[in-house]
Amino acid sequence: MDNGWEISAQAWVDSIGERGDWGREHVLDPVILGRITGRSFKRALDVGCGEGRFCRMLKEAGIAATGIDPTPLLELARRRDPSGDYRPGRAEQLDFEDRTFDLVVSYITLVDIPDFRSAIREMARVLKPGGALLVANLTGFTSAGAEQGWVKDADGKRLHFPVDRYLEEFPFWFEWSGIRIENWHRPLSAYMAAFLEAGLTLTFFAEPAPISGEPSSQETFRRVPWFVVMEWEKPAAA
Ligand SMILES: C[S@@+](CC[C@H](N)C(=O)[O-])C[C@H]1O[C@@H](n2cnc3c(N)ncnc32)[C@H](O)[C@@H]1O
Repeated sequence: MDNGWEISAQAWVDSIGERGDWGREHVLDPVILGRITGRSFKRALDVGCGEGRFCRMLKEAGIAATGIDPTPLLELARRRDPSGDYRPGRAEQLDFEDRTFDLVVSYITLVDIPDFRSAIREMARVLKPGGALLVANLTGFTSAGAEQGWVKDADGKRLHFPVDRYLEEFPFWFEWSGIRIENWHRPLSAYMAAFLEAGLTLTFFAEPAPISGEPSSQETFRRVPWFVVMEWEKPAAA
C-alpha cells in the first residue's frame, strides 16, 4: 500500500511537533479537548493515532488510551511513549471485541482511510452502548479543492478556492511542508449516511473557527474552513 506515509513520516513528525500543526493548535484541539474534559471516559481507542500525540493527550487527561495505525508512524509513537499501548491495525477491521471502549477518536483519519464505510461500522462496533465516537475530519469542500488549492483570477487580483466534483468520491495526492500523502474526497452526505447506517446518533457538530494564531492565517482559514468536528453516540440500547 503506497499512500505516501512511508516517505512522509519524518516530515509529518517535524510538522506536528508536540503542540500540533497550525490547525490542531489553533482550531481543533480546543474543540476536541472541550468534548473530553470533565466527562468520565475511562478507555479510549485512537484510530489512526499516527505518532501518538493525541494518545499522549488522552493519557494526560486520565483516560487509558490505545492507539492503532497501519504505518511506520506507529513505531515513532512507541518511541515517544514507551509505556503506551500502540498496536498495528487498520480501521476497516479492528482487532477488538464488540463494546470495548467508551470513547473512540478519529482525529483527521477518515480522509486517509480507503474504505471509510467499513471503518465507521467498526468504530461503532467496538464502542460500548452510551459511548462516544469523536471525529475531526476535513470539510468536503476543502477535500474537493485541496489538490489545486487557492488560485488567482486571470487578472491576478481575486483569490478563490475552486470546488469541483463535490458529489463524487475520489482519491487525491495532498502535498504540504514536505509531506505527500494520499487522501480521499467524499461529500459530507456520504459520511453522514455511513454514521447513521452504523446506528449512531449525532450529539455535536461544529465547523470550528480559529481561536488564536496569526491574524492573516485566521482570516484565510475563516474564508475556507478546513475542519468539521462531530460527536456520535452509540445508543444505550444498541
Ligand atoms: C492525518 S494523519 C492523523 C494522525 C493523528 N490522528 C493525528 O491527528 O496526529 C492520518 C493517520 O491515518 C492513518 N491511516 C491511514 N490509513 C489508515 C487506515 N486504513 N486505518 C487506520 N488509520 C489509517 C495514517 O497512518 C495517519 O497516521
